[in-house]
Amino acid sequence: MKFPVRRLRRRCSWLLMTLLSAYLVFYLHYSFTVYTYQSVLLPSKSFPVTCKADLLSKPRLVSEQKQNGSGEHITCQQILFGSGNETVYEVAREIMAAHPATYIDDGQFVELTADCVDFRRRRGYHLSPLDQEEVEFSIAYNIIMYRHIEQVERLLRAIYRPQNMYCIHIDLNSPAEVHAGMMALARCFPNVFIASKLEYVVYAGFSRLQADINCMSDHVKQDDRWRYLINVAGEAFPLRTNAEIVKILKIYNGANDIEGIYGKRIIRSRFEREYEEVNVKSPKRKLRQTGQKNPPIPHHIDFVRGSAYGIFSRAFVEFLLTDTKAKDLLQWSRKTFSPDEFYWSTLHHTYRNPHLHTPGAYSGIPDEKPWLASYAMWRGGKTVCFGKWLRGVCVYGIGDLPELIKNKYLFANKFLLDVDPLAYECMEALIEQRSICPPPFNDTYYRNLPFIIKQS
Ligand SMILES: *[C@@H]1O[C@H](CO)[C@@H](O)[C@H](O)[C@H]1NC(C)=O
Ligand SMILES: *[C@@H]1O[C@H](CO)[C@@H](O)[C@H](O)[C@H]1NC(C)=O
Ligand SMILES: *[C@@H]1O[C@H](CO)[C@@H](O)[C@H](O)[C@H]1NC(C)=O
Repeated sequence: MKFPVRRLRRRCSWLLMTLLSAYLVFYLHYSFTVYTYQSVLLPSKSFPVTCKADLLSKPRLVSEQKQNGSGEHITCQQILFGSGNETVYEVAREIMAAHPATYIDDGQFVELTADCVDFRRRRGYHLSPLDQEEVEFSIAYNIIMYRHIEQVERLLRAIYRPQNMYCIHIDLNSPAEVHAGMMALARCFPNVFIASKLEYVVYAGFSRLQADINCMSDHVKQDDRWRYLINVAGEAFPLRTNAEIVKILKIYNGANDIEGIYGKRIIRSRFEREYEEVNVKSPKRKLRQTGQKNPPIPHHIDFVRGSAYGIFSRAFVEFLLTDTKAKDLLQWSRKTFSPDEFYWSTLHHTYRNPHLHTPGAYSGIPDEKPWLASYAMWRGGKTVCFGKWLRGVCVYGIGDLPELIKNKYLFANKFLLDVDPLAYECMEALIEQRSICPPPFNDTYYRNLPFIIKQS
């Protein structure tokens, strides 16, 4: 009887050993996975840059189609850089017309992001920093959106780096599924958050400016590392990689990059007359003239018009949130037309406003300097838009890309997935290719900008 018992014991211990080691292997593997996932959120010491894939080859939207040979040679390389061969664009347009792209429905994002690890990996986010210079220079972003999560998500992916911060403002009038989907998406990233206070945004109303201010206020409270803040529209797309943006912002050296429109081009009625937002929670929401006049602008501030989009130094953001004159100007602008198009500009241009003492300001003539935050192509003259005109602005198509990518701006507005998804895909490929395999960056143009703060 003794012998079989001993054998049984031996067998049992073998089984136990096997189970234990299996568990150990599994545990080690699992904890390693968890460890690597957590460590990507922190700067690591080495930054291997591997330039393997050629992302500018055949776009997915074209290669997915069973073509009878015509789309065989179409590449993003040709679409982006042109080659004088118009046939490429014609054939690409034909293929896209015959096979319209499909989109991810806003309502699907809650489910898509249920498993965050899987979502981040599948969508190809850069979860580790690409180089040391980028790690040491964090950027805060505001993304102001209304709908179409897929497009905002792809914009986020293009500008996403673990060291940056992203505030997303969702219009309170956006459908519930947009709110749910974006909240679910934000939960998958420690550095992406929804603005703590949301607005019912009325076109050209104060609420649009307030949305940006809400995000700025959150950014200042949330994180003390970021050095610059950039606000972008959901329909914008970067023309530069994060590494290039960091290099440019280092050259700016604390200066803001804000548009200035001055003199005769100021539309005075926009702030002399009183406007108010009406029906803010209904589809009939709009900005209406009350027939009254606004009181004079406070503190004898001289008015400068510009864009709603800009590049703001941290000191500028902190200044506008705390300075008495800046806050008074904000209060006064509540009943004006499109204050988002003069608030930053007026604060930034100290030409006739030296008493503002704005950090990173420009004291020269506002119109006589470039502005590189967000390129838009406006309708007029002989301007050709290969995509589609929308409220006077070109929504880019593939034919617009060769000229667009030559310019020095940091972002471009507008891209719409449902106008030209192929243009969007090739822009993503370009920015990703340059992020992974950075070509030499010629910074001469930026070093000679009149508004930068010269390094001593
Ligand atoms: C396929 O080939 C035919 C003629 O060879 C051409 O007319 C047609 O446009 C092609 N289809 C596509 C989608 O390119
Ligand atoms: C232009 O592009 C089309 C489509 O890729 C190709 O078939 C054609 O050979 C090209 N023509 C020239 C002159 O390169
Ligand atoms: C860099 O850009 C400047 C102008 O922006 C140009 O004059 C110069 O030739 C460029 N340098 C190189 C090496 O491409």
